[in-house]
Amino acid sequence: MRFPRELVEEIRSRNDIVELIGSYVNLKRAGANYNGLCPYHSEKSPSFTVFPATQSFYCFGCGAGGDAVTFIMRSENLDYPEAVELLAKRAGITITSDEKEQGGISKRRIYEMNLAAAKYFRNCLFDQKLGRVGMEYLSEKRRLSPAVIKHFGLGFAPESFGSLTDHMHKQGFTDEELIVGFLCGKSQKTGRAYDYFRNRVIFPIINTSGDIIAFGGRVMDDSKPKYLNSSDTPGFKKSRNLFALNYAKNHCSERLILCEGYMDVIALHAAGFENAVATLGTALTQEQARMMAKYTKEVVISYDSDEAGQAATRKAVRMLSEVGLDVKILRMEGAKDPDEYIKKYGADSFRRLLDASRTGFEFKLESTLQKYNLSVAQDKIKASAEMCEYISEEWSSAARDVYIGATAARLSISPEGLKNDVELLRKKKIKSFNEKTSQQARLGAMGVGDKINSDGIKNIKAKAAEEAVIGLLLTYDEYRDAIIRGKAELSVNDFVSEFHARVFDKIIELQRENQFDFSLLGEFFTPDEMGRLQGLEQKRRVLTENGMQVFLQCVATVKEEKISSSSEANGIDEIKRLLEQKRNANK
Ligand code: GTP
Ligand code: MN
Repeated sequence: MRFPRELVEEIRSRNDIVELIGSYVNLKRAGANYNGLCPYHSEKSPSFTVFPATQSFYCFGCGAGGDAVTFIMRSENLDYPEAVELLAKRAGITITSDEKEQGGISKRRIYEMNLAAAKYFRNCLFDQKLGRVGMEYLSEKRRLSPAVIKHFGLGFAPESFGSLTDHMHKQGFTDEELIVGFLCGKSQKTGRAYDYFRNRVIFPIINTSGDIIAFGGRVMDDSKPKYLNSSDTPGFKKSRNLFALNYAKNHCSERLILCEGYMDVIALHAAGFENAVATLGTALTQEQARMMAKYTKEVVISYDSDEAGQAATRKAVRMLSEVGLDVKILRMEGAKDPDEYIKKYGADSFRRLLDASRTGFEFKLESTLQKYNLSVAQDKIKASAEMCEYISEEWSSAARDVYIGATAARLSISPEGLKNDVELLRKKKIKSFNEKTSQQARLGAMGVGDKINSDGIKNIKAKAAEEAVIGLLLTYDEYRDAIIRGKAELSVNDFVSEFHARVFDKIIELQRENQFDFSLLGEFFTPDEMGRLQGLEQKRRVLTENGMQVFLQCVATVKEEKISSSSEANGIDEIKRLLEQKRNANK
């Protein structure tokens, strides 16, 4: 029996790992994560860590690790299906036999339901009587034209607890479906469904395949909460979608504009900037950054001009650069957000801002200069140190030179001095990075008696490269894709370690069926093996050098090591062939 990815995702999203493990282990907050004494080996100081961001756990002492399912398998001594079922029960999800495929209610069904609801909301908005307040708000207060309102499929939810519910019942949707799809709440008293969105204008959220996956609803006055958004459903993950990407994807080969609010995006599209998108009421996630990287080369961040918006900008710059996007920041004065700016100053003005938007470096330089009083010597030194730190992270030496020149000019100091500081800092960083990795290699090299990967000891270099490849494949979609699409050539026969070969085989099999999810591996590997995999994934996440080049390099090493590990005679020919291949690739 195999559970579909959506179901396992759903079960996991409804069993928060901190809360789950917290009911077994005494956890203490430590920064973004939680620590406790490991339940699987005896220890005095806590090395057992729970990571809310990835919904996983790992013990740095004994190497136990995994997700909620692995935790339950270990703690309750259950096999994989039993653990999945226990967690499903715990979250109130029933797995009926013929619905095992769909996790209760299928994505398709949710999309059908949302489409019916969107039509209903739209009809309400265009109803002279029922939708008058909504229409007045959108067209007068927000100055949206009928064409724009139609284009975005905006709607109106009347002030009623039952009008949508009644309508949807007539269309054949059940209370359960309406509740699971977050169109309705569930009455505490009667258990029946009631309308979730009331007296709000409605923004449908549409994925890139054109399905309506969720709704946002805004009040028309200053009451709170300003927005209600559907929570995650089997058909919808906030962290994996962007508002208006369904339209923007056709206008963004050069750049995307990233905003904070739905209304900003709508105003931008209406003004002719059809490459604008927004997150769905949450901070930008790495998944969203990766999605954007699939569609475009450059992202211009156009967040609100307030302090919160600027703080969010700094985080977004980092995230977007990490996935290889060129990032620019738009500076807006005299308005709080793009929507207000365009209303006040017009589209041409906004286009000028867009053209004048600054790179991450310029943004950093400006904000550093603003922070300090450069006529005070100490301040000037601090500003210079902060810029050095920033510049030393830059990979390209040409870019470093440009940044050094610009910084020196603005601080009126000599570029040579600044350059020295930057290079010194860089050397230090590289040294400490190398020390860390060689220490890890030494520790890894002591893999004598490794029960999980008993082949590891045969060839240390192969072990390290294979672990990097597996870690990257577990963590990032694009590398799994690269294997399937033949961008990187690697097969089960290229691994020295039998364990790694098995893991590789399973990852690729699941990916081919578009079913890859870390949790699903739990069915095929023991909790000990899952712990190892969690460790490999953990290692990749803390490293920043995870680009495609790194991956391809590791793949090449895996193959070379396999060949040199195998028979010497035909090995030589293979190595020659590989070298030839590499040379051609570099041309
Ligand atoms: P206007 O105020 O109408 O211009 O809306 P906006 O889209 O510009 O919203 P704002 O900049 O205040 O917030 C940005 C985004 O955060 C919104 O589009 C929503 O997705 C989300 N958001 C804002 N307020 C709330 C709230 O009260 N609850 C939730 N869940 N999300 C919110
Ligand atoms: Mn706004």
